[in-house]
Amino acid sequence: MTNRVFSGAQPSGNMHLGNYLGAFRNWARLQDDYECIYCVVDMHAITVWQSPQDLINQTREATAAYIAAGVDPKKSILFNQSRVPGHAELAWIFNCVARLGWLNRMTQFKDKVGKNRENASVGLYVYPDLMAADILLYKATHVPVGEDQKQHLELTRDIAQKFNNDYGVELFPLTEPLILGEGARVMSLRNGNQKMSKSDPSEYSRINLNDDADTIALKIRKAKTDPEPLPGKAADLGDRAEAKNLVGIYAALADMSRDAVCAEFEGKGFGDFKKALTDLAVANLAPITEEMARLEKDPAYIDSVLKEGGERANAIAEPILSEVKQVVGFLS
Ligand code: TYM
Repeated sequence: MTNRVFSGAQPSGNMHLGNYLGAFRNWARLQDDYECIYCVVDMHAITVWQSPQDLINQTREATAAYIAAGVDPKKSILFNQSRVPGHAELAWIFNCVARLGWLNRMTQFKDKVGKNRENASVGLYVYPDLMAADILLYKATHVPVGEDQKQHLELTRDIAQKFNNDYGVELFPLTEPLILGEGARVMSLRNGNQKMSKSDPSEYSRINLNDDADTIALKIRKAKTDPEPLPGKAADLGDRAEAKNLVGIYAALADMSRDAVCAEFEGKGFGDFKKALTDLAVANLAPITEEMARLEKDPAYIDSVLKEGGERANAIAEPILSEVKQVVGFLS
């Protein structure tokens, strides 16, 4: 099977540094070595309420973020999920392959709904089946994601394997996750034990990709830390969750190891470290913010990228979906 990369992000607003370091930046880097398909997963986004106009704006914003982070729509296929009907069709088949017990174990669903399970949409519950369909509709072999998606990718492998076994075929590959570098798990700036997330009510918990330099500086200045100086080795950060997170963000942005960052700042306090981190974050993010702002002024261009990407994606998906339908026994 050819090496093919698939990944996606939800257009639910507030694209942030975690999305960039855990996903978008790696997507851009993979483009020269793989055939890459990058999707704005609008069908996933509506598992929680999105007003139609917000969804349109956020879909364009997510597309702008991918491109600004270096995804080249000429090299890679870039499209929004709902344009390619095969995602929904294959998801239905996978709803019939996946077991209730498997979905009951999904920690992201449990975290998201908390005590409010009865009121969650059914779509949110079967979301991992749709995610498996996204990937396997293209027989993707590699999926670059942040660490929080690991369990969903294990489920994707289970679905592929059960489908192959049940029908006695070797149709779907067992997809490998690509969880790359120091930015695979960026934590909240307010709480080092919580993931940086677009749904955190505190703006100070995350750096958004459209924050300007002053806002980035303010958020880093206000980031929670401790009074201890930095040790010479990352292992000696021990259980200092916030310190670890800031060192990890620095390492990811500078493309260094955490040990190298600690060696450079050994004995320094967070006052100095935060200044250096701010300079580094602004230097990395300012060009992305500018490019996103430029692209968002040109929705016609964004829409044309998504349309063309949708056509290219569909051309790959259609024969695979036909093969699946034939295996399942659907007459056509
Ligand atoms: P989503 O939209 O929550 O996030 C998009 C990508 O950003 C990564 N990410 C992070 N990485 C590091 N630190 C963080 N704090 C952080 N927050 C988010 C995510 O791991 C992800 O890679 N279910 C997926 C979207 C999806 C998908 C797919 C992904 C749908 N179908 C098929 C891959 C393949 C999601 O909700 O990502």
